[in-house]
Amino acid sequence: MNASENNPAHFLEVAVAAASEAGAIIAAAMDRPKTISYKGEVDLVTETDKKSEAIILERLRSEFPAHAIVAEEGGVSGAGASAEYQWYVDPLDGTTNFAHGYPVFAVSLGLLQRGEPLVGAIYNPVSKEMFTAVRGEGAHRNGVSIHVSIVSKLSQSLLATGFPTHKRVQNPNIHYYWEFTLHSHGVRRAGAAALDLCSVACGQFEGFWEFGLKSWDTAAGILLVQEAGGKVSNFSGGRYKPGDFECLASNSLIHEQMRQLALTVRERGQPQLPASLS
Ligand code: IPD
Ligand code: CA
Ligand code: CA
Repeated sequence: MNASENNPAHFLEVAVAAASEAGAIIAAAMDRPKTISYKGEVDLVTETDKKSEAIILERLRSEFPAHAIVAEEGGVSGAGASAEYQWYVDPLDGTTNFAHGYPVFAVSLGLLQRGEPLVGAIYNPVSKEMFTAVRGEGAHRNGVSIHVSIVSKLSQSLLATGFPTHKRVQNPNIHYYWEFTLHSHGVRRAGAAALDLCSVACGQFEGFWEFGLKSWDTAAGILLVQEAGGKVSNFSGGRYKPGDFECLASNSLIHEQMRQLALTVRERGQPQLPASLS
């Protein structure tokens, strides 16, 4: 066995190289006309999502043939969840922003080892920020250590959330959005969950929550938050695994305040949707 085969530093190196290469493709396509197709009513995909994914898969498959890979635009390989190492790839997080020319999007690669986040790389090709984390070794932005914020009151916090592009009317988030907005400095909705998690990790946001995110949206970002000193859970306070329905990430200091507020919204119940929308 090659010495680099089970080496997290090598996994990160490959992830960073793949994310940079994919990011360059996205940056080059940013100001050009886009070829957009629809996976759902408002679930967009562009040629650039597919090109980015192809380049990342090529790199990962040639370096790590034994690893399993799940990528958003359909790229699946390896032994699935039974593999020791499993990559989750979002080749372009923030596709709707990209399609409209709004410059908030990223490439996200997360590696899980037997279900536990091990390595994460998220690249913002507009700001040229590379966010990285390896389990037990902290979180970094362009090689410089980053930390969550020290704000300890929800009322003094800036938060973020997002809304799904599919099954929108079945998503309860608008009620949480309302409540969190009234109890904080505000809630940003920038449209790229991977970057929202990076913003928690580097102290720009105190907290983030969303419902229904996919494994490729969060596999890298939750490691960034944890390694930067933050906390990630579901609303019951239990472990959040990539792909779980509820994701709550924070600087850890306001975690319990966010969780309690989320529970009051949940307990209140949601107003019934008109039959035509449900
Ligand atoms: C979306 C973004 C958005 C979030 C959606 C995701 P995509 O990912 O992360 O912020 O609110 O739930 O689906 O489709 O742009 O990769
Ligand atoms: Ca995404
Ligand atoms: Ca995507």
